[in-house]
Amino acid sequence: MKNRINQLLEEVNQLIASNQDELEALRIKYLSKKGEVSALFNDFRNVANEDKREVGQMLNELKNAAQDKFNELKESFAGSSTSDQKSDLTRTADPVKLGTRHPLSLVKHEIIEIFSRIGFTIAEGPEIEDDWHVFGALNFAPEHPARDMQDTFFIEQNPDVLLRTHTSSVQSHIMTQQKPPIRKLFPGRVYRNEAISYRAHCFFHQVEGLYIDKDVSFADLKQALMYFAKEMFGAETEIRLRPSYFPFTEPSAEMDISCNLCGGKGCPFCKHTGWVEILGCGMVDPNVLENCGIDSKVYSGYAFGMGVERITNLKYQVKDLRLFSENDVRFLEQFESAN
Ligand code: PHE
Repeated sequence: MKNRINQLLEEVNQLIASNQDELEALRIKYLSKKGEVSALFNDFRNVANEDKREVGQMLNELKNAAQDKFNELKESFAGSSTSDQKSDLTRTADPVKLGTRHPLSLVKHEIIEIFSRIGFTIAEGPEIEDDWHVFGALNFAPEHPARDMQDTFFIEQNPDVLLRTHTSSVQSHIMTQQKPPIRKLFPGRVYRNEAISYRAHCFFHQVEGLYIDKDVSFADLKQALMYFAKEMFGAETEIRLRPSYFPFTEPSAEMDISCNLCGGKGCPFCKHTGWVEILGCGMVDPNVLENCGIDSKVYSGYAFGMGVERITNLKYQVKDLRLFSENDVRFLEQFESAN
């Protein structure tokens, strides 16, 4: 009897169960009414009287050990079964892949961020426009070629319903709605009737800037643009302004930056000139101020407009414009780290 108890005690201490079914089998084997421990208790009456005390103690010890072991194993399963209940079985097995910001959005936000530090706030205007806001108010002559079907998308053959060809149209909206001082940035999509190729698309994005106040000078324009160029492309970047023409600015200029690929030494990208063009700008033509109800004798201002695709190409050396609108993940994924 004593040997049998010791043997069972050893067995019980080494019990393991890897699931609920195995545990239940152990309970039946050792702890049920017909189990090993009960059987020994039934045999207890056959134990000699002088041994009863000792054997009784041993039996109780075995019974407690078996019960403790069972509880211990049960608890280990209980832990795992509650955590099973907490986990969401409908979740996908693979980690969910995060998307990335579109390169044009990244660059647009960067442009906005830079100008917001010198007091520019954002305004937006409609993409479907009328002739006056896109051309008339901006001093385009009636016969100007931009008004031609070749350059501009008209809607339903109506010459007064068209897709804006530049964000300068938002200038007309803001100047007729607000009194100076005006210091605004107009990001947005524009449309031109161009054949799609690696270097031209029928829609693209611009960010326009407009600053109107008393005594705004060309020097203010130059300073703001130089600040922008250095923030965007690095402190070593140089700028140059070349005389140009836009109907709505006088004088007008185009701005080049020193080629950020070769540092201005000359390379195929800058066609060996050391310079790349990034935007158009100028002092707002007094006619435009007057067209929009602003007194040109009291106020002056500057405007500039840049293509977001162009700036993005320079920053990330994207060689084909069409990549921006094809949504090829192999292209878009490359901007992950720029997020
Ligand atoms: N709207 C001009 C363009 O699309 C850019 C520009 C904006 C030029 C503001 C001067 C001032 O090319």
